[in-house]
Amino acid sequence: MDIENKEIIIAIDGYSSTGKSSFAKLIASRWGFLYLDSGALYRAVTLFALDNGLIEGENIDEARLSQALASLDVHFENHDGQTLTYMGSICVEKEIRTMRVSSMVSPIATLGFVRNFVNDRLHQLAVGSRVVMDGRDIGTTVFPQADVKIFMEADPKVRAERRMKELVEKGEKVCLSEILNNLSERDRIDSSRAISPLRKAEDALVLNNTYMTFEQQMDWLQAVLQERFGR
Ligand code: DC
Repeated sequence: MDIENKEIIIAIDGYSSTGKSSFAKLIASRWGFLYLDSGALYRAVTLFALDNGLIEGENIDEARLSQALASLDVHFENHDGQTLTYMGSICVEKEIRTMRVSSMVSPIATLGFVRNFVNDRLHQLAVGSRVVMDGRDIGTTVFPQADVKIFMEADPKVRAERRMKELVEKGEKVCLSEILNNLSERDRIDSSRAISPLRKAEDALVLNNTYMTFEQQMDWLQAVLQERFGR
């Protein structure tokens, strides 16, 4: 397939833990796309707020967070083929994936000034590249002009089991019911917020990967790209 020299933007949206980032990373490494993980930026802002005392219980100090974002340096660095999230010179990739951050990230992502901060960053990073980006509002708000929009779905129990495996591999002690609760609460907040709620773009293709391997998902996408851009 001749997609090597084409400026393509692939937007992947969907519920938490539907395998968006694994799929996006595979697309990036196989076909030479820049991978941008928008959720990682929301997670980094959340970590920053937690570590700086800007979250007390359920209360977020919006005034101080908004001020701090003006000088917050969050970016991605590529090490040994892996895209890692950095705050200044510190790699925060591990910390942003913990349950501590997962439990506060959706409320933080409802804030308009946080969404503007993340969207500006994504637009800056994407300039001039072939990009695959994953999140909740990429196809609807961040890149409504994306060439291919995918909306990912999977059975909730399968999603929770996948997330559990990831966390256990990273050494976190978690139980399946805690993860199921976190996923359904995040889905609820992400889908019902006022600004850019999670929803399928009208022109997005639905990919339900409950019973699919990565290779089957890649074959599915290859057929889509072939039809749209192939020769
Ligand atoms: O993809 P993720 O689970 O790492 O995302 C973490 C949270 O960030 C998710 O619960 C909602 C928020 N998010 C968002 O609101 N919009 C995006 N484009 C990406 C993530």
